[in-house]
Amino acid sequence: MPELRARIENETHFPQKAHRVATMTNHSAASSSPDQLKNRIQQRQARVGIIGMGYVGLPLALLFSEQKFTVTGFDIDQRKVDTLMRGESYIYRIAAEEIRTAQSQGFSATCDYSRLDAMDAIIICVPTPLNEYHEPDLSFITDTTRALAPHLRAGQLVVLESTTYPGTTEEVMLPILEKGNKHGLKAARGISSGASNGGEEFFVAFSPEREDPGNTTVARCDIPKVVGGVNPKAAELAGALYGSIFHRTVPVSSPAAAEMTKLLENIYRCVNIALVNELKMLCLRMGLDIWEVIEAASTKPFGFHPFYPGPGLGGHCIPVDPFYLSWKAQEFDFRTRFIELAGEINTNMPYHVLASIGGALNRQKKSVNGARVLILGVAYKRDIDDLRESPALTIIELLQHEGAEVSYHDPYFPFIGKGRKYDLQMKRTELDKLGEYDCIVIVTDHSDYDYKKIVGEAQLVVDTRNATKGIDSPKVVRC
Ligand SMILES: NC(=O)c1ccc[n+]([C@@H]2O[C@H](COP(=O)([O-])OP(=O)(O)OC[C@H]3O[C@@H](n4cnc5c(N)ncnc54)[C@H](O)[C@@H]3O)[C@@H](O)[C@H]2O)c1
Repeated sequence: MPELRARIENETHFPQKAHRVATMTNHSAASSSPDQLKNRIQQRQARVGIIGMGYVGLPLALLFSEQKFTVTGFDIDQRKVDTLMRGESYIYRIAAEEIRTAQSQGFSATCDYSRLDAMDAIIICVPTPLNEYHEPDLSFITDTTRALAPHLRAGQLVVLESTTYPGTTEEVMLPILEKGNKHGLKAARGISSGASNGGEEFFVAFSPEREDPGNTTVARCDIPKVVGGVNPKAAELAGALYGSIFHRTVPVSSPAAAEMTKLLENIYRCVNIALVNELKMLCLRMGLDIWEVIEAASTKPFGFHPFYPGPGLGGHCIPVDPFYLSWKAQEFDFRTRFIELAGEINTNMPYHVLASIGGALNRQKKSVNGARVLILGVAYKRDIDDLRESPALTIIELLQHEGAEVSYHDPYFPFIGKGRKYDLQMKRTELDKLGEYDCIVIVTDHSDYDYKKIVGEAQLVVDTRNATKGIDSPKVVRC
């Protein structure tokens, strides 16, 4: 895996905030009526601009390109743009060949926002993290929108895809677009607007990304695309755009309904994972195997969907998104208690892992302090190259704080650099001297690992994922 890819992955939390000031204006881009735009979409002649070439934006760009659209990717990270322009990839599951095929279809990447003038549809896929007080950080959306507004022209369609609280598209993004554009353009609102008036209006919608990274069973184009427009014309145009690359679009009545749909999906996961995490801790105390119980419950043909316990939540979505809604709910004098409780339980899981490691070492008359500990798998989930919010990072820091000598291995990360919360600066170790560690902790159950061999050579294995299922050894502690 090229070093560059790992470096960009590690630093993906820290996109530079400075925008390139646009220097040119593309006067060739003419206004078009909504019907003309729809026609251009159907004929694959619409030019699609995607802002944010990350885990969401780049695969989306490739999907449009596969369907013969000419796509331009915009990003403030010059290294990503340069990598794409060389026909290379910085996301593990995207092969360089896919970038080069897209290039032959007209795909290019740029930091230059002035090229937005020429786009017919603009899709925004920038990060939506939490700030240090666990509140929504919309700065990436507002920065992007402010930079985009001067390039807006009549007839363009702007769609936000970043996960956010209900109201962001209309209350935050839309006013910036209206105030910041040079021509006094207004977003199309109401049912009558947009029918033939291409001179004064632009169109705005929200459509959430619903990808499941690492899922190879459902093709991206088979995930139905939820779309909510500010008015029916905007909904129709966004529906036509996404309908040309997804097999099914699901129209909802407003951008806020689409924003809330995405949050419901993620909150559902977050709450159910918290439930099984809590039940796992009870099962451990009762001498029961939660994995066996979940497997048995899953045989019920209705009314049960399995969720699995783990070392804590990770990724850009599940640990973050629910708190966007908690924050917004305060405006309505409402407490989202399920979200808060789930957050409390899930946040505690790395501490549970630390306690389990301590207990396991203690039974061998050893302490965490001074122990040599190997963390297996640091990505936040199996077989993916994403470190964001990974519980492995918290577990490493907790172990180091207790005086353990920590090493790690992950096939996807040759080193761990600086993240949003951590600056670990660790280099991956080899898997050759497993017997020298006092404890090996399976944090992420990548399918590349030979767990039988690992248990065979290890002194002690703490397994947070049931990766050692079926391996009967007194050296294994399931936690
Ligand atoms: N990763 C997922 O699996 C996933 C799934 C569903 C939804 N989402 C949501 O999609 C959004 C994007 O997530 P992601 O994982 O692609 O993030 P990412 O960090 O991988 O990519 C975001 C990209 O936006 C760029 N960027 C930031 N500010 C910019 C600006 N002003 N102009 C141009 N580019 C800018 C960054 O440099 C980066 O390349 C988030 O809201 C996330 O919650 C992500």
